[in-house]
Amino acid sequence: MKPFVYITRKIPSEIVENLQSNFEVEMWEREDSPVPRTILLEKSKKASALFTVLSDNVDQELFEVSSELKVVANMAVGFDNIDLNAANEKGIAICNTPDVLTETTADLTFALLMATARRVVEAAQFVREGEWKSWSPLLLAGTDIHHKTIGIVGMGSIGEAVAKRAKGFDMEILYHNRSRKQKAEEELGAVYTELDELLKRADFVVCLAPLTAETKGLFQKEQFRMMKKSAIFINAARGPIVNEENLYEALQNKEIAGAGLDVFDKEPISADHPLLTLKNVVALPHIGSSSRETRYNMMMLCVENINLILNGDKPKTLVNKEWLGKEK
Ligand code: GLV
Repeated sequence: MKPFVYITRKIPSEIVENLQSNFEVEMWEREDSPVPRTILLEKSKKASALFTVLSDNVDQELFEVSSELKVVANMAVGFDNIDLNAANEKGIAICNTPDVLTETTADLTFALLMATARRVVEAAQFVREGEWKSWSPLLLAGTDIHHKTIGIVGMGSIGEAVAKRAKGFDMEILYHNRSRKQKAEEELGAVYTELDELLKRADFVVCLAPLTAETKGLFQKEQFRMMKKSAIFINAARGPIVNEENLYEALQNKEIAGAGLDVFDKEPISADHPLLTLKNVVALPHIGSSSRETRYNMMMLCVENINLILNGDKPKTLVNKEWLGKEK
């Protein structure tokens, strides 16, 4: 019997084909909704590989029922939806999709920064609604981006790619990260800064940190209070890094000037989410890496990792290095 591979979201058939010659493949076919938990658990029971997305909860319960499972290929660079300890206990390889999405996600992050600063979404809406009656000196005036200070919290490869864009805008670049980034300091003039200092000095605070136990709830009342009243906060990382109620209050009380958010605490958000009542919020549906080219490359990388592991080889992008040497 061929090993069974389960894909938790509908993906193009030309990508699925790359698995079909060697494996029995099934996929959740509905585009408009995630795979129900019961079905995911049921399929996991016999799966040798799972192709997952970031909204799938790949937890201990799932690993417990999966007696055949060798690899989870998660179509995201982030892997906070996966219980790594439980995977390690079971000797299951976890793969993600770094690098292929770096530049695309940096493009979106910078687009979100620009859209928020220059009120692009609000202005486009204004035209569509027939509100544009005349040119006027301060019509929908935003704030400049060039020559301002950007503070990047989480200087991984996406952070560095955002810094590269900021340099093109003659921005002063501050960053905060667990470790110093020599290359970004030398080549981009990025300056390592303690978090509080960064929050006080940056005109744009851009969150690109991974969601971990340390970063959960990192941005709260106190952090927003430290920011300039003119500051714009951008989150293109993970929603739970931010206390959304505190962010709402900071925006409502004009403690900060605006927010561009590609991610939320609980996704998807509904149209009556409090943050959507604020004009100075630009909200996007978690599309950081969503260009056709990059999403294709991410899917292909997942397929490649599955093929490699099920053929007894090492994957290209392994998250849990603990797996090496303990291959099932
Ligand atoms: C998207 O958020 C990702 O982690 O790739």
